[in-house]
Amino acid sequence: MRRPPRREINVNVPVMPLKSADASVSGMTTMKMTHCIEQERVLWGRPSRDLSDGAPRHASLTGMVRQPWAVRVGRTSLVIRGAKPRDLAAVASMHARCTPQTLLNRYRTGGRRPAVVALELQLRQPLSFVASTYDGVVVATAVAGVDGYHGRDAAVVGLLVEDAWQAQGLGRELMSHVSGAALVCGYGEIIGYPATSVTAVQRLMIDVGRTRIVTDPHRPHLHTYLPESAALGLGPVRERLAS
Ligand SMILES: CC(C)(COP(=O)(O)OP(=O)(O)OC[C@H]1O[C@@H](n2cnc3c(N)ncnc32)[C@H](O)[C@@H]1OP(=O)(O)O)[C@@H](O)C(=O)NCCC(=O)NCCS
Repeated sequence: MRRPPRREINVNVPVMPLKSADASVSGMTTMKMTHCIEQERVLWGRPSRDLSDGAPRHASLTGMVRQPWAVRVGRTSLVIRGAKPRDLAAVASMHARCTPQTLLNRYRTGGRRPAVVALELQLRQPLSFVASTYDGVVVATAVAGVDGYHGRDAAVVGLLVEDAWQAQGLGRELMSHVSGAALVCGYGEIIGYPATSVTAVQRLMIDVGRTRIVTDPHRPHLHTYLPESAALGLGPVRERLAS
């Protein structure tokens, strides 16, 4: 498939130092952004499916997609919920705590943090989620949106778990939920574009459904077809089944 052209756009964005969690979103500037990475292409590209775009058979689950639910990670209780624009400072702070390797695996931009405007747009996506402590520290994010390379039925998935919280099951919780959410919104498959974390992402995706790796030299990625059972992976559904 033909690579989409690089695009330049002018946008008015709030400016906030990424390292300051308390920094208020103040001042406006015009930024000329050149971007071609996967995440930004999703966010700036074609509109993603909305919560109302799913098949009627999933309509009863729509309300559960952004509903908060609790998980236990180690000795800490976390809440996973739909992201909101006001999460920007906490999400930016989380990015500041991540290592370049983790950021590389998520964004593939040489280990750099994304622009604040890209984070803000991620938080506005219908299928954008944060995992946070009960005192408001965000430790992981997940997002799914239409994947411009694979058509409107495919959702690109982006997970980011802060280094200190990795390898404790949080990524699996998020992948399960975001896959269920994608199915409810009418996507038929999810696509992951990890950099060096292919093994970890593959282990998460095979839990959801049949997964294959595409060894494209420019853009290696994984496809997982979403079975109907993916709906059972929604966090609030699992929480309800377990209670
Ligand atoms: C990939 C990522 C989301 C996984 O989240 P996590 O919370 O660390 O993962 P979990 O603890 O739920 O573990 C999930 C599986 O991945 C495996 N895994 C985790 N880290 C791994 C690593 N560094 N190398 C190999 N496998 C790893 C675990 O063994 C586990 O599989 P198993 O239970 O079958 O043994 C997280 O490490 C991350 O944010 N990485 C950086 C960004 C990224 O790669 N995002 C994915 C882009 S789509």
